[in-house]
Amino acid sequence: MSEQYNGSEPQPAVFVLGLDVGSSVIRCHVYDRAARVRGSSAQKVTNIYPQPGWVEIDPDILWAQFVAVIKDAVKAAGIQMSQVVGLGISTQRATFITWNRKTGKHFHNFISWQDLRATELVKSCNNSLLMKLFHTYCQVGYFFTRRKRFLSASHFKFSTQQAAVRLAWIIQNMPEVQEAVEEENCCFGTIDTWLLHKLTKGSAYATDFSNASTTGCFDTYKMCWSGVLTFLASVPLSVLPPIKDTSHNFGSVDEEIFGVPIPVVALVGDQQSAMFGECCFQTGDVKLTMGTGTFLDINTGKDPPFTASGFYPLIGWKIGQEVVCLAEVNAGDTGTAIQWAQQLDLFTDAAETEKMATSLEDSEGVYFVPSFSGLQAPLHDPCACASFMGLKPSTSKYHLVRAILESIAFRNKQLYEIMQKEIHIPVTKIRADGGVCRNGFIMQMTSDLINETIDRPAHFDMSCLGAASLAGLAVGFWKDKEELKKLRRSEVVFKPQKKWEDYETNMENWVKAVKRSMNWYNNA
Ligand SMILES: *[C@@H]1O[C@H](CO)[C@@H](O)[C@H](O)[C@H]1NC(C)=O
Ligand SMILES: *[C@@H]1O[C@H](CO)[C@@H](O)[C@H](O)[C@H]1NC(C)=O
Ligand SMILES: *[C@@H]1O[C@H](CO)[C@@H](O)[C@H](O)[C@H]1NC(C)=O
Repeated sequence: MSEQYNGSEPQPAVFVLGLDVGSSVIRCHVYDRAARVRGSSAQKVTNIYPQPGWVEIDPDILWAQFVAVIKDAVKAAGIQMSQVVGLGISTQRATFITWNRKTGKHFHNFISWQDLRATELVKSCNNSLLMKLFHTYCQVGYFFTRRKRFLSASHFKFSTQQAAVRLAWIIQNMPEVQEAVEEENCCFGTIDTWLLHKLTKGSAYATDFSNASTTGCFDTYKMCWSGVLTFLASVPLSVLPPIKDTSHNFGSVDEEIFGVPIPVVALVGDQQSAMFGECCFQTGDVKLTMGTGTFLDINTGKDPPFTASGFYPLIGWKIGQEVVCLAEVNAGDTGTAIQWAQQLDLFTDAAETEKMATSLEDSEGVYFVPSFSGLQAPLHDPCACASFMGLKPSTSKYHLVRAILESIAFRNKQLYEIMQKEIHIPVTKIRADGGVCRNGFIMQMTSDLINETIDRPAHFDMSCLGAASLAGLAVGFWKDKEELKKLRRSEVVFKPQKKWEDYETNMENWVKAVKRSMNWYNNA
């Protein structure tokens, strides 16, 4: 604990900042000791689409926005920069950049986690002789040792969402980067690492465990960059940043930027941050984030989850000796489906959808398949199409809206089931967050379908709160996790009301619609 804000009367009050660099918005909240938001600011992230399937972010624009939201939030709170004792940053995961170690100049834009340019390379890595040898090696390793890490690794496959293969693509296709790699003059960083580099004017170069575990280059079992995985993806270890605890003093912001040196004390991936913000600290705690997509995460305790279907194990956070692991499943289109309907003028404000849905008995046999970006777990079909089925002359926009909301709840049920099947850990509690959890219809239906109580917090920007919580712990602003638990406020608790049987036929029909939408783009 630092003396300057240790409570004596004449000292001004102090605050921590929680930032979230998401896929669509950069947000900053100023938190007081009661974890109340005292000032906020947000800016839209602009994605660039230079070619079909390519998704980039301009780092100079992102940096300017990042600095601006901090200044604006502090101004909105009516406080001085000098009253800020710590900064925590949560970021969209697996979006990365590379830059010149000597000059600090970046070689290209951020390559977004949504970018598909490396699809062919992922296929060839997946099918390479090396990968086959690796799987065989792991199967043999498991046979002799019965160590679960071998079994999990024997199912390991790369995907474009992990940074590893996109980075390999960049190195192969950009001679400038390749040259820098050969001269050991190339730095790789996800958004957090790069922001830290910018904030400290190049003096700090690091990432945290929660981030590192999403790159596809990380060995969750040994807690370090994986020599084998980086070799499989042809990524040189020399470009990867050192990995630090999630809640840790990463360095101070250069004084020129905000006039005072503010310590950067937490770097964390967005889902992990939301998990922390929800106080899902115990094994079996679950959080359901419904934003652009849905992310269902369960705390699996100190051991990485073992699953046969190839869930990639994640590190939630590492603080000192404490390591918390997560298992995660996701669905790609949640908020995107609602946004799409809004663009069609089915309603003007997403808040109306709840009333529209509850004004009907049912969707009159109309089903929606939320698959603008394919279907993820448990179906794993990138070629599935989005579709409406069962349309009739009498179908109104109300039915369409209800079908969309129902489809989100049905997907939640599917994700929950696969999690229960794969992760043999009893669920202790479930907490929801993200913009779409404001929709009471989806929340109630999800609670009914999974037959579990779901707690919706009073605070929605969980990734900001999580980053601020981690930062606050690192500087002694909050004492411990128990204190954070006491500060958490619940808004509504959804309890199961209807029986599963009431939905059974409906869900069976929806599953039928899903099946018929699968493998649609099979020539793609
Ligand atoms: C940590 O989170 C940030 C947010 O993008 C993400 O961009 C970055 O990829 C993560 N770090 C690593 C090493 O994955
Ligand atoms: C690589 O393998 C994984 C797991 O089988 C699969 O989900 C993914 O789609 C594959 N990627 C490509 C591009 O084939
Ligand atoms: C739902 O949960 C309650 C309480 O845990 C249990 O008694 C009931 O049998 C469950 N219902 C179904 C359909 O599983």
